Amino acid sequence: MTETDFILSNFDTKKASNGSVIWKTPSNIALVKYWGKQEPQIPENASVSFTLDACFTLTTLKYKERKSGSSNFNFEVYFEGEKKEDFKPKIETFFKRVEQYVPFLKDFDFVIESRNSFPHSSGIASSASGMSALALCIMSIEKELKPEITDGYFNKKASFLARLGSGSACRSIEGELIVWGNHNGIEGSSNLFGVKYPYKVHKNFKNYHDTILLVDEGEKQVSSTIGHKLMEGHPFAEQRFKQANDNISKLSEVLQNGDLKQFIAIVESEALSLHAMMMTSNPYFILMKPNTLKIINKIWAFRSETNSNICFTLDAGANVHILFPEVEKDAVNNFITSELIQYCQENHYICDRIGFGAKRLSKI
Ligand code: DP6
Repeated sequence: MTETDFILSNFDTKKASNGSVIWKTPSNIALVKYWGKQEPQIPENASVSFTLDACFTLTTLKYKERKSGSSNFNFEVYFEGEKKEDFKPKIETFFKRVEQYVPFLKDFDFVIESRNSFPHSSGIASSASGMSALALCIMSIEKELKPEITDGYFNKKASFLARLGSGSACRSIEGELIVWGNHNGIEGSSNLFGVKYPYKVHKNFKNYHDTILLVDEGEKQVSSTIGHKLMEGHPFAEQRFKQANDNISKLSEVLQNGDLKQFIAIVESEALSLHAMMMTSNPYFILMKPNTLKIINKIWAFRSETNSNICFTLDAGANVHILFPEVEKDAVNNFITSELIQYCQENHYICDRIGFGAKRLSKI
């Protein structure tokens, strides 16, 4: 599919005069990381993620047909019950980017009400779940205007729109494993939207756990947007993009054969390679904190003592995502509560697991 397949035409605005739609959309954690992109939100390499379950955004989009036409978008934004003027520029940019594909945005007045299941300041990126929720709400209006669109098209276009809001958001529409970015070894993969991992996944990955240790709950010093930009002209960029694409091939085998030791080797190397890119960009920066490293070392020690299949990954921050199979949940939870929680800010952590994707709700 190409961009033009996502342009809505032959629709009837009269089919939706006013109403509201609610979507609950999950966050996701990348196993092979997206870091580096080109306009318009085209990734430099393919990435793959676990869709999460407990970390989600709940968004209500209220819409009302406008009596007179306007050349501006008209919307209000509320986050956790409070009006948020400072959220508007990002949404305005998103609307501008997607308008050519959903040309009805200026025909309505919108009120966007959103809240997260995780604390806003937790350092967990809310752009993936937030932007995918908004994209899905917009798609529900498109469905009202043009009821004949199929579920398959609905999800693909929701992912396509979400990508234009935030790259990783395109991996937050469906579950359980999503690939985004053209890759020879992954049938159907695309730079334009995320697709479900198309091959049979080994039972070892069923119900996989992700316990997120909140090491640093503050605002990040360097945003992902700036980080991506610093990959332009980065001395190791080409090698990194190749490494990520090679890791997708290796991980794809592992997902099918269930080799957990190989899974650990790929996932941890990806996390550290991501942070190595940050440390070697110009200007350079470090998002890990001393406690991030303490936790990593504890995990390595526990693994060599017990032969556990616990491993870690990181996103663009100091928090540590601890991944482990369902069969090890008692032993690993014990280890986390007795040895790792002391490194979390105010002992905060979130128990999450692999999830099945976004859900439309009829009421909150
Ligand atoms: C480190 O999707 O937040 O989490 O496209 O600029 O919104 P934008 O960036 P974003 O980048 C996520 C980077 C990452 C890795 C990943 O999720 O693949």
